Amino acid sequence: NNNINILAIESSCDETAAAVVKNGRTILSNVISSQIALHTLYGGVVPEIASRKHIEKINQVIKQALSEANVTLQDIDAIGVTYGPGLVGALLVGVAEAKAISYGTGKPLVGVHHIEGHVSANYIEHNDLQPPFLCLIVSGGHTHLVIVKDYGVYEIIGRTRDDAAGEAFDKVARAIGLGYPGGPKIDKLAKEGNKKGIVFPRAHIEGSPYDFSFSGVKSAVLNYLNSCEMKKEEVNRADIAASFQDAVVDVLVRNTIAAAKDFNLDQIAIAGGVAANSALRKAMSDGCKEQGIKLCYPSPIYCTDNAAMIGVAAYYEFIKGTRHGLDLNAVPNLKI
Ligand code: KG4
Ligand code: ZN
Repeated sequence: NNNINILAIESSCDETAAAVVKNGRTILSNVISSQIALHTLYGGVVPEIASRKHIEKINQVIKQALSEANVTLQDIDAIGVTYGPGLVGALLVGVAEAKAISYGTGKPLVGVHHIEGHVSANYIEHNDLQPPFLCLIVSGGHTHLVIVKDYGVYEIIGRTRDDAAGEAFDKVARAIGLGYPGGPKIDKLAKEGNKKGIVFPRAHIEGSPYDFSFSGVKSAVLNYLNSCEMKKEEVNRADIAASFQDAVVDVLVRNTIAAAKDFNLDQIAIAGGVAANSALRKAMSDGCKEQGIKLCYPSPIYCTDNAAMIGVAAYYEFIKGTRHGLDLNAVPNLKI
């Protein structure tokens, strides 16, 4: 049997996840134990609680991933695991687990960059997607515009100068009382609002046309809320959500399409939690149609953190020969 099965583990933030991926693009199982309900109580992810919960859940999640895939550890060819970037205590749980399985079974260990996982999520449902393409990665911790030159070969051409896109969504959601995680809640509320209701700034960084900045728009929302409070004016939260979202989406689409044109790339992919945003998907798709650029994005379940995407990335690293030793460590600020 020539199949290559990867057991993948992801624990970089607040989801404990394991998956089995066959030959790089076929997902045999994708188990996610989310801690969101737990962290909602505190308005955001509490690192210490995340680590402890990962320890409690990880064995069960892996067992379930193997059983849903109908395989045993003997059928696995390599263990893929996220080793950064992320919360150090959270990452350590997955890395220690993967190393233990690798040691116990003698199967090779492949450390995966979390962001490479997000990019690779696009391979799952788009069988004909192949490098080179342009990828916009928008998550809670990252906003990057990268040229995917080959599997695992990236050139970063743009990044955020301050807040990540998802971080801005989460902070604005908190300010208007929507709670954590804010992205999906803003997405939903924005559908009832007028996106031209309030004009929020669109940052343009002189000399760096592919860079982003979201702290300005976030501050503008906070200032708007303060001034309404001082004037004792009623705020329309749906209008704020829609107008804020429109400002963020505008810049994401503008810079991404400009980069695709400048670098002559006819294929764009989006990745990361914010890639699940319905307004971003719509605006990017309209923009790409206008320019004759192909667009793909993963289903929402593969946009937010999951282990299937880590298994896909691990597969392409594995067939290139990447192997990690039992000295693999968590690297919270791992560079792409
Ligand atoms: O990729 P992800 O699960 O974790 C990181 O690696 O950061 O991304 C989580 C981020 C959060 O900030 C969350 O609010 C945002 O993705 N997000 C969304 C949506 N779904 C998740 N933002 C906007 N619209 C959504 N529908
Ligand atoms: Zn992520």
